[in-house]
Amino acid sequence: MTVVRRILDSATLLPPIEPFRAKAIEPIRQRTRAEREAALARAHLNLYHLRSEDVTIDLLTDSGTCAMSATQWAALLSGDEAYAGSRSFERFETVVRELFGFEHILPVHQGRPAERLMIGALCSAGDTVPANTHFQTTRGNFESFRVRPVDLPSPEFWRFAEPLPFKGNMDTAALERFLGTAGRTKVPLVLLTLTNNTCADQPVSIENIRTVRGIAAKHGVPLYLDACRFAENAWLVREREPGFAHASIREIVKEMFSYADGCIFSAKKDGLAHTGGFFATRSELVAERASEQLLLAEGFLTYGGMTGRDLETIAIGLEEVLEEDYLRYRIETTAYLAGRLSAENVPVVQPPGGHAVYLDVAQIAGHLSREKNPGQTLAVEIYREGGVRSVRMELAPGREAARQEPVELVRLALPARVYSRNHLDYAARVVGNVLRRAGALRGVRSICSPSLTGGFRACFVDEQENR
Ligand code: F0G
Repeated sequence: MTVVRRILDSATLLPPIEPFRAKAIEPIRQRTRAEREAALARAHLNLYHLRSEDVTIDLLTDSGTCAMSATQWAALLSGDEAYAGSRSFERFETVVRELFGFEHILPVHQGRPAERLMIGALCSAGDTVPANTHFQTTRGNFESFRVRPVDLPSPEFWRFAEPLPFKGNMDTAALERFLGTAGRTKVPLVLLTLTNNTCADQPVSIENIRTVRGIAAKHGVPLYLDACRFAENAWLVREREPGFAHASIREIVKEMFSYADGCIFSAKKDGLAHTGGFFATRSELVAERASEQLLLAEGFLTYGGMTGRDLETIAIGLEEVLEEDYLRYRIETTAYLAGRLSAENVPVVQPPGGHAVYLDVAQIAGHLSREKNPGQTLAVEIYREGGVRSVRMELAPGREAARQEPVELVRLALPARVYSRNHLDYAARVVGNVLRRAGALRGVRSICSPSLTGGFRACFVDEQENR
């Protein structure tokens, strides 16, 4: 079906289009360079501290920044706000159970509380938890429970220029070694993040999930998925993994989750919602423990920190995110931005993944030492140049990983269904302009860097004349 359609499209030479049109718009205000300078100073060069009013194109994150559909907005009125036994929860639970196949579903207000429920129910202080990589908040939450997160990314990830299909995979040889020698250290779960945000949002193959599952099971360890971007991962499996070209997205999703004992989910990404999430598990015991925490920290079992109307929007978002036209548009848009950046000679991690494009910082600002924070310098400069907000990300695997050198990337994330190709052309040009004078950048100096919450609260000063 897809293949036929692609052939037809190329035969008639019609360009791909957004499979939606705007029903409501939000004005963008352009700031002058002087205004952007002042905004940067107020934010202590931390782009999380900018006012969104001062941002022209906001590529900070895809999280909770999507445009909802008319159907989702309309569903706000049918939200059942009952404290207990809400009809909206039933709808949400039915969709989630049908799609992911887990018995116990605990609603939470975003991904982080799901992380805390999972950790609280499964882990004890002194444990270690291996993952393909832990996202920043997941890592921070494990550490706050005195659990050591271990990243075991595939060594293929480091080959940034090579378009290998599944650079988000876990290094299964390293996992074997790790579980074989973990000794007295308890490993209460293995985590797979898909897509793998910290590794340039590269997808994880079904084969890798299956192998990880096999190794974990051999050692009696359950497998959980951090599944924020499950639909984008499923699409990329269909496009790139042998044997899946004719499977439906739902079938791939079902297979992905069939290997897992549970998952954490932030509905702010592939839930196409502004808030929400859940923790799901097959284990009654784990669900029982997590329910206690849910009641103490989030709310009652049938809303968990969300409103009834949030539950409605997520139930619909989870259907919309699986639509072929949506996913094709989503992945093609990311590839389009990567293509525009490449046309400006900007080195980006290849191939483009799901929700974002990642700039190869070492290639662009390799003259800056680590203390000069090249990634942050670049992100700041991109804002200074044209009001485009991006974010610095870092992968710093520990001693268990096959490759350990830390890697800095700058991520341009695409809020779903929000920006047009004109906006992306603008963003690519802005980055291109920065690239052309990147050799003159002097760096930024960190003046505060909280340990668990990292980039969210760090502050910097300009080394000297970046301008
Ligand atoms: N896991 C992954 C892979 C994530 O990307 C995020 C959030 C979370 C967990 C936490 O979810 O924000 O709902 O609490 N990622 C956002 C981002 C913040 O910009 O990538 P949350």
